[in-house]
Amino acid sequence: MGKTVIISNRLPVQLQIDGDTITAIPSVGGLATGMKSVHSGGDSLWIGWSGLTDEEIPEGLAPKIDQALKKHGSSKVNLTEADVDGFYYGFSNRTIWPLFHYFLEYTEFELESWNTYVAVNQKFADAILEKSEDDDTIWVHDYQLMLVPQMVRQQRPNISIGFFLHIPFPSFEIFRTLPWREKILEGLLGSDLIGFHTYNYERHFLSSVRRLLGLEVSFNEIYKDDRVIKVDSFPMGIDYKKFSDAAKEHDEKKENQQSELQQRLNTHKESDPDAKFILSIDRLDYTKGIAKRLNGFEYFLNKYPQYKEKVRLIILAVPSRSNVPQYQLLKKEVDELVGRINGELSTVSWTPIWYFYRSMPFDNLIDLYTSSDIALLTPIRDGMNLVAKEYIATRTDRTGVLILSEMAGSANEMNESLLINPNNFEQIADSLYEAINMPVEEQKSRNRFLQKRLERYNVEKWANDFMRSLIDQKERIHTKVSRKLTASVQNRVVDQYTKAKKRLLFLDYDGTLAGFHNDPQKAMPDEKLYQLLDAISTQKNTDLYLISGRDKDTFTKWFLHKKYNMIVEHGVWISKDGEEFRLLENVKNDWMEKIRPVLESFVDRSPGTFIEEKNYSLAWHYRNTDPDFGNKRATELTTVLTSLIANDDLTVLSGNKVLEIKSSGVNKGRAAMRMLTEDEYDFVFAIGDDWTDEFMFQELPESAVTVKVGLQKTHAKYYLENTQKVRELLEKFAGAE
Ligand code: ADP
Ligand code: G6P
Repeated sequence: MGKTVIISNRLPVQLQIDGDTITAIPSVGGLATGMKSVHSGGDSLWIGWSGLTDEEIPEGLAPKIDQALKKHGSSKVNLTEADVDGFYYGFSNRTIWPLFHYFLEYTEFELESWNTYVAVNQKFADAILEKSEDDDTIWVHDYQLMLVPQMVRQQRPNISIGFFLHIPFPSFEIFRTLPWREKILEGLLGSDLIGFHTYNYERHFLSSVRRLLGLEVSFNEIYKDDRVIKVDSFPMGIDYKKFSDAAKEHDEKKENQQSELQQRLNTHKESDPDAKFILSIDRLDYTKGIAKRLNGFEYFLNKYPQYKEKVRLIILAVPSRSNVPQYQLLKKEVDELVGRINGELSTVSWTPIWYFYRSMPFDNLIDLYTSSDIALLTPIRDGMNLVAKEYIATRTDRTGVLILSEMAGSANEMNESLLINPNNFEQIADSLYEAINMPVEEQKSRNRFLQKRLERYNVEKWANDFMRSLIDQKERIHTKVSRKLTASVQNRVVDQYTKAKKRLLFLDYDGTLAGFHNDPQKAMPDEKLYQLLDAISTQKNTDLYLISGRDKDTFTKWFLHKKYNMIVEHGVWISKDGEEFRLLENVKNDWMEKIRPVLESFVDRSPGTFIEEKNYSLAWHYRNTDPDFGNKRATELTTVLTSLIANDDLTVLSGNKVLEIKSSGVNKGRAAMRMLTEDEYDFVFAIGDDWTDEFMFQELPESAVTVKVGLQKTHAKYYLENTQKVRELLEKFAGAE
């Protein structure tokens, strides 16, 4: 087992140069703080950007920088100033960040910054390729590097790649506005496992994959070419022990050991027995709802004036992305708002808001967490929000109330906190009132639940879960690969084919010999296919059957003149050697009058769907409608039909984006078995792509070579990826004697 390679834009430390001295300062932000604990524990290398551009690194200092990073198990990707401008300040933080947080009005679509994003992602991918071996596990992080998985996959098809998105994945309606939306999805799909903080983000992602790439998604697996990509949610935790231990240590400190900040906090706390601190900590980012928080707090003081001179709001905002204009505007807005509220409400002995605009050492963060009675976190949209979890972890005596926006990913797991809508000032004010007046016993009982959960599902568990899932995925892919009809297995099969005295072949049509088309009538055979089928069907001792759910009129038009053997409508009709179709089964169709109006009512209510009428069956196609909607309607229709046909000898078959109602007992398996008994065959082959072909795979004897097209679950012995591969195999049959 190789090492783990972590790749993110931010490294755990940011370097600063002062003359000849290099200082490493810890990075802020959920990704770096969370992954740091994972990284420090094991055999891993962290690749990322040092925070310095090539232009900022004086000549000769590069080796020192590499050494400084090596101490933190890290290695840097070199970025020029122009790279950082287009990739970081540009596409990452002016396009993806606002868009994925639903700030469409802040989102810029600039071709130039997209191009830089692609080029810089390639730099990261190259760094991975240089530093990793085939048996390493690659873990790519976050929205800055969404193209990296595919770039690495192209060069190292067998390496294991996981991707985790630390921010929300927006709904399809938002994501679809991005001009490069398909490229982003394809980039991500280079991974074996894609992780999100919450099920909602996962759901949005799968919906975009289905709608924009038209890929088959089954539960949380995506089928793409010969690969299966798993998508799952893993809510990120914190290093619980680190925070709770630090808080315990903090509690034990004597007064003279306390920090200056702590002493100041004590003085204010002691000034009034009812004095309360409300705390908020975040990067200065418009997604964090800082202005809404300030307005909400002002509204609270006016609604409940008895708390004036008693309650203080401490806002710690860390400078972030200050080259991006929206962040500069936000800084101005927050400065002014704090100034105005303090100006209007302060008294000689009381300033309602304490505002710190800077980063703080860990010990001071702990001072703030442990001294605050309430944490007020009001993001308008937040992938997770780890600050909420850190606050709870530091409450050693279990007092303290967390007020948390329901728009934060962490709200899903922190139901015992007071959840608010950050746009509702009334609710913010009332929650503050409730928090201030919450009995200590209630605080403790709420926090007991929260702490238990956070302690159990900590960041280590989160990372282990992700890694285990990635390894499982790799193993599953291995077992799949063992069933793949590889070149060597194909050679064996062709050898059997050549040596056989009498061969029987069943070839499904749609999805096997030909690809799907929105209009089934347009999926007609091409000249190459005719040639291929001609070559096989005219071979000595070879009985070839096209076996399909199609209606007989279409196959008559397409194939009768070719004299291929055909079984259509799932086994109702048969034609041999160019004869007209005759009934293979004694079936009825008088039930159609009853069922057709039901299907019609579904067509009326489901735009894009249509009915295909065959002689002995009715099919309802839903390929051309929205995939989620189509699946929902299909489930609905199945339920309606199942109760309607209970007393008839009918069955509802679920094919590839089609439901078909037909006589039960008639299926491709039964038809194939009838043909099998007509002669002494020593080579039997069946190939097909959907559920209706499974009847053949199940019923044909064990010695038959059965092949599924696609990676879904199957009874077939082997699988092939797509119609192109099917043709390549048939070419080999055609070339055999
Ligand atoms: P985001 O990832 O959007 O920045 P999170 O709340 O998930 O938001 O993570 C923020 C992380 O940054 C937390 O781990 C927090 O402790 C750390 N952090 C926030 N503010 C500061 C600060 N002023 N100084 C040091 N670390 C900070
Ligand atoms: C969020 C993002 C991270 C990012 C962090 C800090 O947590 O998900 O990818 O590193 O914010 O932002 P910055 O732009 O300073 O890296």
